[in-house]
Amino acid sequence: MDQIVIHGGRRLVGEIPISGAKNAALPLMAASLLTGETLRLSNVPHLADITTMARLLAQHGVSLHMNGDAEKGSGGGVLEMRAETISSFVAPYDLVRKMRASVLVLGPLAARVGEAKVSLPGGCAIGTRPVDLHLHGLEMLGAEIRLEEGYVHALAPKGLVGAKVVFPKVSVGATENLLMAACLAKGETQLLNAAREPEVADLGECLVKMGAQIEGLGTDRITVQGVDSLHGAEHSVVPDRIETGTYAMAAAITGGELELIGGRADHLSAVIEVLHEAGISVKETPRGLKVKRVSGPVKGVDVMTEPYPGFPTDLQAQIMALMSTADGAAMITESIFENRFMHVPELTRMGANVNVHGASAMVRGQQRLTGAEVMATDLRASVSLVLAGLAAEGETVLNRVYHLDRGYEHLEQKLAACGADIVRRRSQE
Ligand code: EPZ
Repeated sequence: MDQIVIHGGRRLVGEIPISGAKNAALPLMAASLLTGETLRLSNVPHLADITTMARLLAQHGVSLHMNGDAEKGSGGGVLEMRAETISSFVAPYDLVRKMRASVLVLGPLAARVGEAKVSLPGGCAIGTRPVDLHLHGLEMLGAEIRLEEGYVHALAPKGLVGAKVVFPKVSVGATENLLMAACLAKGETQLLNAAREPEVADLGECLVKMGAQIEGLGTDRITVQGVDSLHGAEHSVVPDRIETGTYAMAAAITGGELELIGGRADHLSAVIEVLHEAGISVKETPRGLKVKRVSGPVKGVDVMTEPYPGFPTDLQAQIMALMSTADGAAMITESIFENRFMHVPELTRMGANVNVHGASAMVRGQQRLTGAEVMATDLRASVSLVLAGLAAEGETVLNRVYHLDRGYEHLEQKLAACGADIVRRRSQE
C-alpha cells in the first residue's frame, strides 16, 4: 500500500486551487438517475469516491463519460451522465460497503421507477451512522419499506406522493435523498429541519436547472412542488469548503501564507471565526481566500461541531491538529458523530497532548510535535495527521493513504507546490 512521507517544519507559501466538493458531487451524480436526458457536471474532482459512485450508477444503467483537466491539479473534470433507461434498481453490497453515500440512489430510484433495493451501509469508522431518517422520510412520501437480507427495499408502484417530512435530527444525506425524491412526487413536499449545508443547496440548484420546483434552499424549511419529469442540465460543482478549511489550517500550522483559489468565505464563517480567535488572518481576495498566521504562536480556542452553519465535523480532526500546536488549551467537542476521535491516539504518538472525555477532547498545546509512523481510519483523520506532519520535526510516514485518495485531489502535489517536503512512496505490490 502507498505511503505519504513528510519532512516537517517548512512554512507553506503560495497558492492552492480548491477542487469541486466531493460531498456535493456525489449527490449531484445520483440526481442523474432522475432524468432520461444528459446531466453534465463540471468541476468534478478526480477522487476514489467519485469512481465508486460512477460504478454504482453504471450498474443501474447510466452511461457515463468523464473528461477534463486532472493533471493540472485544478480539478475541472467534466462528467456527463445519461440514465435513458434504468436497467437495475439494486445497489449491491459490494459497492455500498465501500461508500455510504451510495444510499443516495435510494430516493431517485424510488421516484423514477417506483422501486429501489439498496444494501444497508452498516457501520463505519466514525460511528454507527444509521439510515432511519432516509427510510422514514420515504415512507412519509408513500413508499413501502421492507428490510430484506441486509437490503432496504423501497416500493412505490403508483409513484411517490408529496408530504410534510419533519426530520427529528439534521441529516445531510436524508435531506438530499428526500429532496431528490420529492421532485418527482405528486404534489407538495415540505422538508422541515432540513440540512442547510452548501452541498444540499448546490444539489437543489442543479435540480432547479433540471426543471424541479424548489423553494427555501439553504434554509431548514424546503418546499418542493413535484413535477412529472425532469430534463437534462449543466451544473458546476461548488468549491470544496472542507478542502478549503483543511488548507487554511495547513497555512496556520506551518506559520505560512496561502491563497486558496476558489475558496469561499461565505461557506466557512464558523471556521473563519475560530481561526481569527486563534490569531490567523483570513481575508477574501478576488480569487478566493488568503490565510496567514499573523504573529506568534496559534492561540488555543474551544470548538464544538454542529450542523451548518456551525463548525463542521469534517474539520474537527484538522482543528485538533492545529490546536495541538497552540499556546494554551482547547476543548474540542464533537456533537455530530459518536466515534470521531480515532485520530487522537495517532496525534498523541506525534507528541500531542489530548485527553478524551466522552464527546469532548481537551487539547493542551505543545511547543513541538515530532514525526512518527502513523495511520488513520478515515479521510479527515488521515489529513489531520498530514497537517501534524507538516508542522512536526523529522519524518512522518502516513499509512493507509487510500483514505486520503477518497477525498483530497492531488494532495501531495498541491502541498509540495507551496514548499512542503511531501512525497508519495508507491507500494511495490
Ligand atoms: C454527510 O454524511 C457527509 N457525507 C459527511 O462527510 C459529513 O461528516 C456529514 O454529512 C455531516 O456533515 C457526504 O455528504 C457524502 P448526516 P451523512 O446524515 O449525510 C445521524 C466526509 O469526511 N443520522 O448528516 O451520512 C448520523 O449518524 C464525510 O467527507 C441518523 O441518526 O451525515 C449523524 O450522527 C464523512 N439517521 C448525524 O445524523 C439517519 O438516517 C448526521 O449525519 C441519518 C443520519
